[in-house]
Amino acid sequence: MSETPAVPIARVFAAEAVGTLVRVRGWLQRSRSSGGILFLHVRDRTGTVQVTGKKDVLGAASFDAAEHVQVEGVVDVEGTVAEDPRAPGGREIRARSITVVDPGLPFPIFQEQTEEFRLDKRHLVIRSDEHVATFRVKAELLRALRAFLDAEDVLEVTPPILTGNPAEGGAEAFTIDYFGRPGYLSQSAQLYLEAMLAPHERVYALTPSFRAEKSRTPRHLTEYQHLEVELAWTDLAGLMAFVERLVVAVAHAVAAHRPAELRALGRKPEELLALAAPFPRLEYADAIARLAGQGFPVQWGSDLGTAEERALTLEASVPTFVTHFPRELKAFYMLRSADDPRTVEAADLLAPEGYGEMVGASCRETDLARLTERVRAIGANPEEYEWYFDLRRHGNVPHAGFGLGVERMLRWMLRREHIRETTPFPRTPSRHTP
Ligand code: 4AD
Ligand code: MG
Repeated sequence: MSETPAVPIARVFAAEAVGTLVRVRGWLQRSRSSGGILFLHVRDRTGTVQVTGKKDVLGAASFDAAEHVQVEGVVDVEGTVAEDPRAPGGREIRARSITVVDPGLPFPIFQEQTEEFRLDKRHLVIRSDEHVATFRVKAELLRALRAFLDAEDVLEVTPPILTGNPAEGGAEAFTIDYFGRPGYLSQSAQLYLEAMLAPHERVYALTPSFRAEKSRTPRHLTEYQHLEVELAWTDLAGLMAFVERLVVAVAHAVAAHRPAELRALGRKPEELLALAAPFPRLEYADAIARLAGQGFPVQWGSDLGTAEERALTLEASVPTFVTHFPRELKAFYMLRSADDPRTVEAADLLAPEGYGEMVGASCRETDLARLTERVRAIGANPEEYEWYFDLRRHGNVPHAGFGLGVERMLRWMLRREHIRETTPFPRTPSRHTP
């Protein structure tokens, strides 16, 4: 192989590159040959460039080897950068040598294949332009979340994934055999974040959460990335304001840093840049009244399902908070509202245009008797939560927190039909491979 250092393909498109000798390497997107000239489109992480190779320059053996490289095979090319208006981006590399790193076998992925087949071959499908753009946006989203939290002086901590009690109640927990004792894959890091609150006051974790929900819906995964934040000395108004700032900051950062990828995926960055606080707030009771007025068969106490959330947000261009749910609809740890004992200090943030719940937020119950009563009410054993109750016995302060589903947020930002398109290897009830 050549002694010339390889450069990123994007470098070929710099103004001063024309006429220089470069070496690039990458994966073959397509190729054709005609009349002793080979045309290759070579992709690396920074872009795609056309490479032309002439048989009389490369030599017959080398030309023949390059001609037989399959789609997604790999080549190492050295040649001169030239202007060519017919080439994508107006440049090409006129090769003086093409070394085959991996000729590859015929690539099995085509456009017209069934969704099941494409999911079976997900490890290869993720090289598609759409997936490449999606996971670059996702990386930016994760970076922006961490940058925002860092700027807000919230400490990143590392709660466990293997746990002895389910955080959100047992129904949707994956149970495991933990050396002969029951264990659970974490549904939420919240209880551990609450424990870390006393010394740190403001903490967050970005971990996988697991939900054994059998429902096959376009917004449920059995494993998803969960950002969870816990803040001392915060009430529901303060918590909603924090969530609002976070969503706006992250949408702006993604739009500012990944405009090309957003456009390629059909989302105008300008729309995300236009997102501004405050978001509308709607009390649960008013949401029910509104839905009943639209003919939904709902009454006080009804849960808001996909159809209801959709109806509430279809016309909206910014997310909406729904607040003050009946306590029976919500988790045991939520704070009873001071002015209505039937409701809890909770807020779900619903994405615009019917994409559904992105964030679940609440103030936490600080009264130990009420907390114990709620654990019993959901049919759980209070003894298993003894360590959590200790937090109410030693340095108990008002606090609140939320969980944000990273893939839910991305699904809305990219307007994807199905949540599985927002994660490289989706886990759903019917699939945990590849
Ligand atoms: O509303 P959830 O269940 O709340 C909690 O777990 C709290 N303990 C969080 C906290 O306060 N620390 O889940 C939070 C968010 C949801 O709003 C949703 O965005 C996402 O997690 N989520 C899922 N995302 C993908 N697939 C699933 N099956 C999800 N279940 C919840
Ligand atoms: Mg929720």
